Amino acid sequence: MAVNSSHTSTPYLNTAQVGRAYSRYAHLYDVTFGKLFHEPRRIGVECLDVKHGEQVLEVGVGTGISLSRYRKDCSVTAIDVSDGMLEHSRQRIERQGLENVTLTNMDAANMTFSDNGFDAVMAAYVITAVPDYKVVIQEMIRVCRPGGRIVMLNHFSNGNQLIGSMEKLVSPLCRHLGFRTDLALQAVLDGTTLQVIRKRRVTPLGLGNLVECINLKAA
Ligand SMILES: C[S@@+](CC[C@H](N)C(=O)[O-])C[C@H]1O[C@@H](n2cnc3c(N)ncnc32)[C@H](O)[C@@H]1O
Repeated sequence: MAVNSSHTSTPYLNTAQVGRAYSRYAHLYDVTFGKLFHEPRRIGVECLDVKHGEQVLEVGVGTGISLSRYRKDCSVTAIDVSDGMLEHSRQRIERQGLENVTLTNMDAANMTFSDNGFDAVMAAYVITAVPDYKVVIQEMIRVCRPGGRIVMLNHFSNGNQLIGSMEKLVSPLCRHLGFRTDLALQAVLDGTTLQVIRKRRVTPLGLGNLVECINLKAA
């Protein structure tokens, strides 16, 4: 069952608006944001450590830029709420013959998947793009099996006061583009069953943090 929350992390955009915002610049995504974080995505998929036959979920798949990096003997389910981004993903899947990938338009905050269905969950540059990160992280935990892996790739606010005030300043502007800059990792993790097993910077200036977690929820 999907988790409900009254907590609103991003008051500026709702899910439909986020989807539309990304659809507007889907055609530019790969040559801008896509290109910028190519290497972190490669490392992120590697860290997911997917095994033969496993079920993988990628939330907020965007234009599908990471999809070819998964091993071909696992099943990848990829979701997003932006029709524009999904169309690019669909074309990429077709072009690259990625028969192990299933693409669905679905809100990460209200997934229709059953509990514990995935061995590994990837969220690359998504948790700061969703209207309510608390609900999304709980949903990722719900659909991931106990002991499964969850990898987040994101910019997280790093606690530095000067940088923090700049992040707060630009965040309202960025929210109109579909993401926020002022979210701390601890806020995402608080109250969850996730245990961080490794956390590192994967791009300069703290623009990208790779956070590897194990889902410690009870079986
Ligand atoms: C910054 S892009 C990241 C795309 C891709 N993961 C990457 O590494 O480039 C954020 C993506 O999350 C999607 N997204 C935002 N809110 C979502 C939600 N509630 N459910 C599913 N996808 C969502 C957006 O449509 C967009 O494609």
